[in-house]
Amino acid sequence: MSAPGSRWFPPGKTLGGELGLAMKRVAAFGVVYPAGYEQALVGKYSREGVLYPHILIILGQPRINHHFFYPRALGRTGRLLDYGCGTGDNIRQLIRDGFPRERITAFDINRASIDLGFDLYRDREEMQDLFSISGTFPYGPAEFGMVYSASVVHVIADEGEFRTYLSNAWSALRPGGILFGSTLGLAEGAVRSPDGRGPPREQLAGELAVAGFRHPEIVQRYHVPHDVPGDKDNMCVFEFCTEKPA
Ligand SMILES: C[S@@+](CC[C@H](N)C(=O)[O-])C[C@H]1O[C@@H](n2cnc3c(N)ncnc32)[C@H](O)[C@@H]1O
Repeated sequence: MSAPGSRWFPPGKTLGGELGLAMKRVAAFGVVYPAGYEQALVGKYSREGVLYPHILIILGQPRINHHFFYPRALGRTGRLLDYGCGTGDNIRQLIRDGFPRERITAFDINRASIDLGFDLYRDREEMQDLFSISGTFPYGPAEFGMVYSASVVHVIADEGEFRTYLSNAWSALRPGGILFGSTLGLAEGAVRSPDGRGPPREQLAGELAVAGFRHPEIVQRYHVPHDVPGDKDNMCVFEFCTEKPA
């Protein structure tokens, strides 16, 4: 049984199996695990549960470096905020790719996935200063040149909370700053099933415009990593990039 607050793993996947696979992927980045580490982690997360099983399933597979805006992001000045950072896979990739560490901040409303990232990467001591956790958005106006948002839009079910999220991103960006990221969405031409998640392209573009962003680029990707019953053929991943006017 899952611990309170955690969600189920999809059919065919188990906590132990996914932890083992995540450790193999992270080991490929050079992380070394002592004997017994895997059993200890399985014990810990069997007791505590995993808040977002899907995040464990993809842990060690950063997505930011596949985003169409990434080459441009690496060349920009200013600070970058990973807003809804989860395990921190993506900021670790930025550092591996030479983006200056002192210009990176990772924020989440929840500690669970950040701790999962520390447990897998074994780098709490050296990385914890980059992460910040709070129930309220802690950043002032125009602090960042870029805000990155990966798989956060589709987990925010409440419309008001989603608008607050976008408005926080807008406010935290300096004029000319860029919001980029990805979300599950409804594929072009698909009909939403009753339990569907993720916005159609027009809705995503509309919400970005309402928040004050301009010149959105939204690219549909067909790989659908989530196991969403009844919705598998309808869901896509949208990558987006949009600007706070200068
Ligand atoms: C599916 S996970 C994605 C994590 C990470 N961005 C990634 O791509 O692996 C969604 C994350 O968004 C965070 N989140 C949800 N609502 C948020 C909000 N309003 N502000 C900040 N983070 C939020 C959750 O706590 C969770 O860590």
